[in-house]
Amino acid sequence: MNTCVLLVCFAFSSLASCTALKRNEKPIIGVLAQEVRTPQPQKASYIAASYVKFLEAAGARVVPVMINQTLEEYKKLFNSINGILYPGGGVSIVSSGYANVARIFYKLAIEATSRGDYFPVWGTCLGFEELTYLTSGEMLLSRTNTSGVALPLVFTNGTRESRLFKEFPADVLNALASEPITENSHNFSLTLKRYNRNKDLRKFYKVLTTNSDGKTEFVSTMEAYDFPIYGTQWHPEKNAYEWTRPYIPHSPSAVRTTFFMGEFFVNEDSAVRKNLHKFDDEEAEKRSLIYNYNPVYTGIKSAFEQLYFF
Ligand SMILES: *[C@@H]1O[C@H](CO)[C@@H](O)[C@H](O)[C@H]1NC(C)=O
Ligand SMILES: *[C@@H]1O[C@H](CO)[C@@H](O)[C@H](O)[C@H]1NC(C)=O
Ligand SMILES: *[C@@H]1O[C@H](CO)[C@@H](O)[C@H](O)[C@H]1NC(C)=O
Ligand SMILES: *[C@@H]1O[C@H](CO)[C@@H](O)[C@H](O)[C@H]1NC(C)=O
Repeated sequence: MNTCVLLVCFAFSSLASCTALKRNEKPIIGVLAQEVRTPQPQKASYIAASYVKFLEAAGARVVPVMINQTLEEYKKLFNSINGILYPGGGVSIVSSGYANVARIFYKLAIEATSRGDYFPVWGTCLGFEELTYLTSGEMLLSRTNTSGVALPLVFTNGTRESRLFKEFPADVLNALASEPITENSHNFSLTLKRYNRNKDLRKFYKVLTTNSDGKTEFVSTMEAYDFPIYGTQWHPEKNAYEWTRPYIPHSPSAVRTTFFMGEFFVNEDSAVRKNLHKFDDEEAEKRSLIYNYNPVYTGIKSAFEQLYFF
């Protein structure tokens, strides 16, 4: 059983009417791979394991989305999974393998969602930046001094009605607003000024939080108005799972933030559980899951504790 049928019944009059809502009980989310800086045999691309753990802790399974595949393969995979995550990293948002695949899935997600087949997309850090590029068709990022700093979020008046934050417990929201528990590792940002001046971005995304490097205010969390598309310039997955940098927060509130962000994406109003895509058969599903690969401990010399190499 891949899905569960929930009967929502209304009995206002003697005529009771029931609407069947299908819920996906076995969500599978794609995580996009990206090029390594110096490729070696069997080590040409990677996914940081923290993104996989982030989704697994919320009850999803993960399929790696490899770069350099054919459009046909991506279409098939799109119709097999229930959402995709674009991780942080260090490749081009315009011309890398990562950028190519992100563009293909973004387009498929927009088309599918427009037909009522909701397909959620999540972008973290580089993934957030990629989303600003895909939506606007322009490189709108500006340099900021935000490479390795933990900040409290500045919530906008859009937070309360947002899908992303509306179910967050008050104590987690308070901690996010008052404690430096969102980790920023980026040299470029979407400034609030540029967001406000760009009609495509302004129409598409609601700004949920902002931050500043002391000089420049930038967008730190956004969600699309009409599509299940979400972006954080900060790293929700690092608090619970990454340890190699001294500025990664690990306080109880910081760790709870990791889980509530994952919980939102996999379980709440993000639409992952509304998506009913599935693999052709169990064999195809098994062959695709991340369990076919073993993460490597790289923490001694990398920004991550563990990486999956492909
Ligand atoms: C992807 O394709 C490019 C260009 O053909 C190649 O240089 C690169 O090594 C490939 N990477 C992977 C992970 O397949
Ligand atoms: C960048 O920010 C850090 C604090 O995060 C500060 O110590 C440093 O002086 C800033 N650098 C510049 C060039 O403003
Ligand atoms: C607050 O929300 C209103 C609409 O409800 C909007 O017009 C206004 O620009 C928002 N203010 C800020 C600071 O975001
Ligand atoms: C930002 O740029 C500095 C200097 O070029 C570099 O050392 C650092 O790794 C960069 N940070 C990120 C997150 O890319």
